[in-house]
Amino acid sequence: MSHAVPQGIFITGTDTGVGKTVIAAGLAVLFRKRGVNVGVMKPIQTGCLSRRGARIAADARFLIQAARADDPINQVCPYRFKIPAAPLVAAEYEGVKIDLHRIEDSYRRLSMRHGVTVVEGIGGLLTPITPTAAVIDLAIRLNLPLIIVAHIRLGTLNHALLTVQGARQAGATILGIIFNRPGRSPRDLAEKTNPGVFSRLCSVPVLGTVPYMEGVSVEEGRLGRVGMLGQYLNEGLHHLGIKLDP
Ligand SMILES: Nc1ncnc2c1ncn2[C@@H]1O[C@H](COP(=O)(O)OP(=O)(O)OP(=O)(O)O)[C@@H](O)[C@H]1O
Ligand SMILES: [Mg+2]
Repeated sequence: MSHAVPQGIFITGTDTGVGKTVIAAGLAVLFRKRGVNVGVMKPIQTGCLSRRGARIAADARFLIQAARADDPINQVCPYRFKIPAAPLVAAEYEGVKIDLHRIEDSYRRLSMRHGVTVVEGIGGLLTPITPTAAVIDLAIRLNLPLIIVAHIRLGTLNHALLTVQGARQAGATILGIIFNRPGRSPRDLAEKTNPGVFSRLCSVPVLGTVPYMEGVSVEEGRLGRVGMLGQYLNEGLHHLGIKLDP
């Protein structure tokens, strides 16, 4: 029996709110436009809104919209919590124990149906999921290589280098880092120089620097110009180590 090896990418960030969902969605659109059957996953979402008794996971919905995936929400986002806190905290508040096996099982099902599956992490690498497992442990368990999304602002060199160190220490593969600008503040010297300085200090490839893109809103479910992401990636998708051929 020969079948394509399921492939996936784990999108992590230097912090919460740095643009993981936007970058993951942009990648999903790029894959889709190249004719790749793309799946998406946000294994745990905290801070869900409630509508008519259902919990709305904004990131999962945005990713599904970008990928045009029709997988059940329980597989794309098996854990949906109301409290906007780290998974460990939100789960304990609701008296729920997060089972990494359940997440792994959902991922396997998704990855069997798709050529590539883009998984968005939660917060940063050391964000706690259970008393003994953090986000990096989940990425390792799913055996996924990482893309790090870093906010372009002042402070990112420290956050990005710590993230790389943590990922390496855990034995993860890092495909590269993408600098992102989620807001419209004036560009200062730190913003202008951060990607260049990072590449002088660290061997992790800088895949690109993404500007503020008009009309994009994860919260409001507007994809806007998210599909333009490819323009801002240095050497296209082959640089991500993802085989696009079937
Ligand atoms: N390049 C961009 N252009 C325009 N808006 C952006 C861009 N990147 C991020 N945003 C906006 O910034 C906010 C944070 O981005 P996003 O939700 O992708 O971050 P995140 O790292 O996924 O956050 P979380 O930790 O909550 O999952 C969102 O409102 C999103 O729409
Ligand atoms: Mg997100």
